[in-house]
Amino acid sequence: MIFGRVKPLDAILATAEKRGLHRSLGAFQLTMLGIGAVIGTGIFVLTSEAAQKAGPGMLLSFVVAGFVCAVAALCYSELASMVPVSGSAYTYSYAVVGEILAWMVGWALILEYAVGASAVAVGWSNHAVGLLRGLGVAFPASISNADALMAHMQIAFGATPNVDLQTAMAVGGWVNVPAVIVVGFVTWLLIIGTTESARVNSVLVLIKIAALTAFVALTIPVAKATNFDPFLPTGGVGVFGAAASIFFAYVGFDAVSTAAEETKNPQRNVPIGLIGSLVICTIFYLLVASGAIGAIGAQPVTTAGQVLAPGSAEMAGRCASIVATGVTEPLVCSKEALVHVLDTIGWPAIGRLVGLAAVLALPSVVLMMMFGQTRIFFTMARDGLLPEKLASVHPKFRTPHVVTVVTGIAAAIAAAVLPVGKLADYSNAGTLFAFFMVAVSVMVLRKTDPGRKRPFRTPAVYIVAPLAIIGCVGLYLSLPLTAKLVLPIWGLIGLVIYFGYSRSRSYVGRGIFDTVDDPAMQPERAKPLD
Ligand code: ALA
Repeated sequence: MIFGRVKPLDAILATAEKRGLHRSLGAFQLTMLGIGAVIGTGIFVLTSEAAQKAGPGMLLSFVVAGFVCAVAALCYSELASMVPVSGSAYTYSYAVVGEILAWMVGWALILEYAVGASAVAVGWSNHAVGLLRGLGVAFPASISNADALMAHMQIAFGATPNVDLQTAMAVGGWVNVPAVIVVGFVTWLLIIGTTESARVNSVLVLIKIAALTAFVALTIPVAKATNFDPFLPTGGVGVFGAAASIFFAYVGFDAVSTAAEETKNPQRNVPIGLIGSLVICTIFYLLVASGAIGAIGAQPVTTAGQVLAPGSAEMAGRCASIVATGVTEPLVCSKEALVHVLDTIGWPAIGRLVGLAAVLALPSVVLMMMFGQTRIFFTMARDGLLPEKLASVHPKFRTPHVVTVVTGIAAAIAAAVLPVGKLADYSNAGTLFAFFMVAVSVMVLRKTDPGRKRPFRTPAVYIVAPLAIIGCVGLYLSLPLTAKLVLPIWGLIGLVIYFGYSRSRSYVGRGIFDTVDDPAMQPERAKPLD
């Protein structure tokens, strides 16, 4: 019975009351927190992948992905204002649709956050390597990406070793060392209890906004209408495919809801923070994408008339061959899309600064994602669904160090051997499932608990929530096949663990609703980096 084990909302709220975290964040800081978590690898790197899938039509992809996030954010807002506790979609689902689905959501959130952190780490690596190159330091290609490894793997699994794959094997790398370094650095920061203060976050947000504003100011004036033609080289399928990938650029706004416990007047401020950060990011993304397309064009690269899959070894090989002929590298080939556009239109110094902005700001996105992951994991362990040992708190630093190290190792391995686009797609699969469940939960709760106070009510919920559901399913179906397969495989592993381990140990299953009085199970709030 799916709804069998529901954690009573009142127990969750009582728990939050008892913990009594200091409520210090206002609407402005929450919006900054949202923008800080959202702007990252998506716009700085994946713009080229979106262009490869949809050409200039990626503008529509940004709108589609932004729209799905907006309707999901409206659903998030109702639950976040009613249940202003940390744990995000996992906690909401536990209260509304029961333990097993909550477990699945928590399990999917691990995919969102841990794999998402790897994707951002690879994006950081691209910019760090580019910045070094700009300074005259050539970081060896063999340890700055995993293109050659992937080409070998594809051939091992039966792909024909065509010229593109052979080029990738010749010029590509084996392991992405800079990405591993940044994950290691962030893991260390989290273990010693550093998280980001609102002040550091605000500075990084300003750096990112300054970089994107400079990009828009320099590219829009030189935009050519002809670069938007043909607008839809790959048709509607391409637009939705790109939307499913570029969705990653919006992921992170849910960080706002996880800060609900520390928010003043969360009922008013959480919805403002969620929707405010989303609106600001969408406007920036559309301007940046228009500038990139208009300035240097965004048509997909093909081999024998076939549009190559972005992030594939074939694509890496084909791009290497194109660059070897001496022509300007197409946007779709670039590993640092925005820097490349500025280089191409004659602003290399500003390009370096934009690259520097990415190098400075992306680690905070990695940190936010890994922090989210460890805290979701921690909340699940606190509910008895994962081994308490995993959630043990470091005696000196008061941080959940074991789960942080486990997360760090997993994220580092993924970042070492997989390309950014694939990682982003896998992360998106998990996120879309979590958003889907939030949209379902908001409607279920309207039926099962109509009398409860709803400080923020999703407007037209029976239109907005179904739109979110349709949007999430539509984007999921538009993901590449491997990314589509990741979710059910990951889910199956999750179910085996749930029935093999968690179900019999669940506190709710054993009738214990409030377990947070045990001080050993509560990390102190991390010390902010100020
Ligand atoms: N939205 C975040 C990014 O693009 C995860 O990096």
